Amino acid sequence: MRHFALRITIFIAILILFSMFTGCMPRAQEESRTEDLDQQERQLVMEDRWPEGCNSCHKVDDKDRTIATYTNQRVVGHPIVDSKDIEDCMDCHRPGDDRFARSLHLSHMNSRVYTEVFGGGCIGCHQMNDRGHVFIKGLED
Ligand code: HEC
Ligand code: HEC
Ligand code: HEC
Repeated sequence: MRHFALRITIFIAILILFSMFTGCMPRAQEESRTEDLDQQERQLVMEDRWPEGCNSCHKVDDKDRTIATYTNQRVVGHPIVDSKDIEDCMDCHRPGDDRFARSLHLSHMNSRVYTEVFGGGCIGCHQMNDRGHVFIKGLED
């Protein structure tokens, strides 16, 4: 009789252990799934649809949409410039110029044309190199 009780106890212990393991498994899988980006998220943060940065969008097509023209026409009180790319803008706007970055951040990220029509985000202008450094396309790599 003692023997039987012992066997039952061991059997129940094994059952409990087993159910703990199988109970854990789906949870572990779920965690690893949330750590991995899905295709849409990966595209949002990595896919480079604008490899030329500013000039991928700001060019002459049906209209003159170059950065110089947009700056001259839309940045109130701006001196007339003929900067061809972002590097030329930096002749006057030194790297680290907070107002320059903030102004461009607001005008683009708050624009539905930029975010919805173009589907643009941070990586319209920024990109990451293989050493993990984030830079402005056209300024350094
Ligand atoms: C993915 C496309 C895209 C990229 C990349 C892009 N722009 Fe623009 N930009 C736009 C659009 C669209 C507007 C107009 C927004 C509106 O009118 O709602 C705009 C507006 C502007 C304006 C006028 C608004 C203002 O006062 O800032 C300037 C100046 C400008 N962009 C400069 C730049 C510079 C410099 C870069 C690169 C560092 C850049 N853009 C990158 C699409 C882009
Ligand atoms: C000849 C010098 C010069 C060049 C080149 C230049 N800027 Fe400017 N920019 C200025 C001045 C001056 C202001 C006004 C700053 C102030 O209000 O004190 C200004 C202001 C701005 C502002 C408003 C935010 C701020 O920093 O005050 C934006 C946005 C801007 N410039 C974008 C550009 C872009 C984009 C280019 C290149 C296409 C460019 N600028 C090239 C001189 C220049
Ligand atoms: C229209 C182009 C453009 C877009 C879109 C944009 N940035 Fe920037 N960002 C710039 C420029 C230009 C600078 C200034 C670079 C410099 O001074 O050397 C800058 C600077 C920065 C900096 C340096 C700190 C600062 O503010 O000066 C950070 C951080 C940053 N951006 C983050 C972001 C994030 C996050 C997003 C998306 C939410 C974003 N940027 C979208 C153009 C852009």
